Amino acid sequence: PHTQTITLQVNGQPQTLSLDTRTSLLDALREYMDLTGAKKGCDHGQCGACTVLIDGHRVNSCLTLAFAAEGARITTIEGLARTPDPKAIEDLSAVQAAFLVHDGYQCGYCTPGQIISATAAIDEQRKGDLSIVSWHNGQSDRPELTDDEIRERMSGNICRCGAYPNIVAAVRAASK
Ligand code: FES
Repeated sequence: PHTQTITLQVNGQPQTLSLDTRTSLLDALREYMDLTGAKKGCDHGQCGACTVLIDGHRVNSCLTLAFAAEGARITTIEGLARTPDPKAIEDLSAVQAAFLVHDGYQCGYCTPGQIISATAAIDEQRKGDLSIVSWHNGQSDRPELTDDEIRERMSGNICRCGAYPNIVAAVRAASK
């Protein structure tokens, strides 16, 4: 294997590692940095359980080479709360708190990916990035996400338990 040294910026901390250049960002996080919040569901870009933010944009970390993320700002579920060691619901991000309040999970395996993805989806919407649904509906300036938009924007995150109604409720609440 071809091993090189890499420094990744993860949740505001520089992490210097010696990695095989073919290592996925997901494996780098889970196996080398002990950040196991991002989950390996399919390892093929189909389930969204591995979603993390790179410079604020959501990506499937299973499909991203760790080396491709060098120099970027990587945010995982571990870095989302308002405080580093959250003890109370007020310490969580708005999206995390909404998932708790609305029971937006069942087994919880897909939840870190769902929450990261929802965080980005709400951010995209606030920045006026039009979704396909609002484009089709001729709605260009929506103050809030509709449930259809939430489902469309969250469609890359699969929940095997089918907790979708509560996931949509959580995203709706957090997006207000
Ligand atoms: Fe990356 Fe499923 S593990 S999309």
